[in-house]
Amino acid sequence: MKTANQDIKPVTTKINENGNIEIGGCDLTDLANKYGTPLYIFDEATIRAMAKSYKDAFKDYPKINMMFAAKAFMTKAICRIMQQEGFGLDLCSGGEIYTAKNAGFDMSNTLFNGNNKSFDELNFAIEAGVKTISVDNFFELALLNDIAKSHNKQVKILLRITPGIECHTHEYIQTGHLDSKFGFDLTQLDEAVELIIDEYKNLDFTGLHAHIGSQIFEKQVYYDEVGVIFKELKRIKDKYSITLTQVNLGGGLGIKYTKDDEPISVYDFAKTLIESIEKHSKEYEIEEPEIFIEPGRSMVGTSGVTIYTAGSSKKVPKGRKYQAVDGGMSDNARPSLYQAKYTVEIANKPEVKELAKVTIAGKHCESGDILAKDIMLPETEEGDIICFYSTGAYGYSMSSNYNRVLKPAAVLVNNGKSDIIINRLTYEQLCESDIIPDRLN
Ligand SMILES: Cc1ncc(COP(=O)(O)O)c(C=O)c1O
Repeated sequence: MKTANQDIKPVTTKINENGNIEIGGCDLTDLANKYGTPLYIFDEATIRAMAKSYKDAFKDYPKINMMFAAKAFMTKAICRIMQQEGFGLDLCSGGEIYTAKNAGFDMSNTLFNGNNKSFDELNFAIEAGVKTISVDNFFELALLNDIAKSHNKQVKILLRITPGIECHTHEYIQTGHLDSKFGFDLTQLDEAVELIIDEYKNLDFTGLHAHIGSQIFEKQVYYDEVGVIFKELKRIKDKYSITLTQVNLGGGLGIKYTKDDEPISVYDFAKTLIESIEKHSKEYEIEEPEIFIEPGRSMVGTSGVTIYTAGSSKKVPKGRKYQAVDGGMSDNARPSLYQAKYTVEIANKPEVKELAKVTIAGKHCESGDILAKDIMLPETEEGDIICFYSTGAYGYSMSSNYNRVLKPAAVLVNNGKSDIIINRLTYEQLCESDIIPDRLN
């Protein structure tokens, strides 16, 4: 069965009676008028459809814990939706922990990841009641044990390993290959286990964690990932008589940004994992463990679009036509960071058939600030509302105030209603943290 991550557009997208693009029952040109642009728009129905697909796909494996990877899009309203859908949160910074707590999220359904968690962040995680910490390295093992001891607590931990699996995605978002900044190399695992047994008495070692990368389209890498981890479970059981009961398989399921992308469905993803879990549990004679997954991009990516207003345009003699918009790399870093491609339409004329080649340029002082290169669109004009699909993940969360632009607002749309979930930054807020030291006066 097809799932929403396999479509480019949110599930409620249509062309309405005015000939404009509508999402969640809201005309994108009306949203542009009401809230201004650039604007992030999130379709609640698509987020909930993805949550439902994950739950259906794993219903035959009751020991599953679904943790939304908050890094993909973290805001208080999203925490609320995830809680309503029965998802936990995978958090990876003090700020994400704070946001979850501030949103009233059930912290007993959270875990904390990251390759350089600070003393303050680990301390805060324990105080805030984060359930499990995935420990990345030797330094963190010692640090966390000290902190746990000072709280007189046993802290549940997973050890993050690098399973040595290369997936075919952009090198910046591969994480599970051997030479990676994340996790323990498999050859270091025994030393970590022995330290826990002999010295780190405040750590309760319950399982292993791996995350092999992001925007993954292949099934085989997930199958193999389970195999590598389960082999380690068996080895640890035989060598140290420790039965690990939890395995975190990370996130990474891809979404469709352009027609050339062919991500697998959530059902195929789940089937692959469950088959591999069953096979390897039997082969290694271990009880099927509690499984965690941490989907980020696939949960929110397709639900989000960004709209911009077209401004100046330029036809370079013997060169390209550039259409500039009122945002750019500050609201979407992905095109300049890893050449990410998007599907683009003009919200106020989606049905015009005659197309011309155009490059959509951002407004920032960087030649690399190009949002979409050489795409085919109806002739663009000043005032057009340009819609970029599948920007729901790693758009807002990677945004910046580069050139002191204001971070855009985000709205949640559903059944013809739109609600602000993030206010547009104001000029006052932009300068709020700036200080001129007295000696400069
Ligand atoms: C440890 C971990 N888990 C989960 C994710 C989410 O990945 P994705 O958004 O591709 O599902 C990431 C992303 O980088 C990650 O580092």
